[in-house]
Amino acid sequence: MSQRLTINQNNKPIYDIVYEHDFEELANELAAFDIADKKLCVITDSKVKGLYADEVCSVLKDRCKMLVVYAFADGEQSKNLDTVKDIYAFLIENKFERNDMLLALGGGVVGDTTGFVAATYLRGVDFVQIPTTLLAQVDSSVGGKTGVDFDQYKNMVGAFYMPKLVYMNIAALKTLDDRQYYSGIAEVMKYGLIKNANFYEWIIDSMYEIHERDIETLEEMVLKSCTYKKIVVEKDPTEKGERAILNFGHTIGHAIEKYKNFELMHGECVALGSVAAAYISWQKGLLTKEEYYEIRDMFVPFNLPISIDKINPEEILALTASDKKMEGDRIKFILLKKVGKAVIDTSVTKDEIKAGIHEIYFSEEDWDE
Ligand code: GLY
Repeated sequence: MSQRLTINQNNKPIYDIVYEHDFEELANELAAFDIADKKLCVITDSKVKGLYADEVCSVLKDRCKMLVVYAFADGEQSKNLDTVKDIYAFLIENKFERNDMLLALGGGVVGDTTGFVAATYLRGVDFVQIPTTLLAQVDSSVGGKTGVDFDQYKNMVGAFYMPKLVYMNIAALKTLDDRQYYSGIAEVMKYGLIKNANFYEWIIDSMYEIHERDIETLEEMVLKSCTYKKIVVEKDPTEKGERAILNFGHTIGHAIEKYKNFELMHGECVALGSVAAAYISWQKGLLTKEEYYEIRDMFVPFNLPISIDKINPEEILALTASDKKMEGDRIKFILLKKVGKAVIDTSVTKDEIKAGIHEIYFSEEDWDE
């Protein structure tokens, strides 16, 4: 029996997240949306297309009016308005109408971009998230944030737009390469750090099974992560307040991601940003020194970085100011009071942020000493 979570708004169910171990149930789940009368477009990237598009299409092909696949080049560089325009053109060529449906098959870039197309094409068509990376399963496919990057601004153009369903094939996590997999673990650890100390302990206690990618552990890890995200996004779906805590580690993380031109994985940057944010929390008297070092060192056994070389801290600092999580000229910085409790702080100064960046900066002079 598959597990499910329902995301509600104003006490009304909006969409379900279903947890499966293959794609077999996808057509049955979509039958609830009368797909027999709809055209479906599977939107994916070049990498995921080779892995899963055939399997997904064979499950769906006799169950809908028409099925087409659109794949764009994989990677963050595709998350832009040019890709959105190309998808619009493809949908127009294939005469997609308002009653038809888009399926986002892939990681965060596919989900965010497809969601934005769904929100805007013909003023909104239905879409379903089928996340295949850990990062997408525990974070980006849940909560209705859609959008693309614009110039150096990450996720700058977008919309809150809810999927009709999120279908997770947990077994897809087994085919991820190690860097992609551990990148997702950074977001899993985030939920423990910001929301629940027991979950953080569970992650550490389950380290062996997490490394082994034991399927039951993976399912529990994804389900628990989504449960914490559900608690936050149900209270604050459009990030007027508390939802901002989900950005823990992301202000400096996004700046590093951009500075390194997306050569590092998103979760690697989030781990670095989390260490810097925990350091600032210590410096501001919220965490003890021991708590800071424990948080920092716990990323290491999950193959996540806690320091970085070849950066210019001043430029990283400047990029934090181009992050969209601003309130006037103040950054809405997420700090930790303790493991399991995040706070939003708009008093963090440039010097404090710079000190956080220096804490994770492993310069050549350090090496010489
Ligand atoms: N990824 C952060 C959020 O969904 O709000």
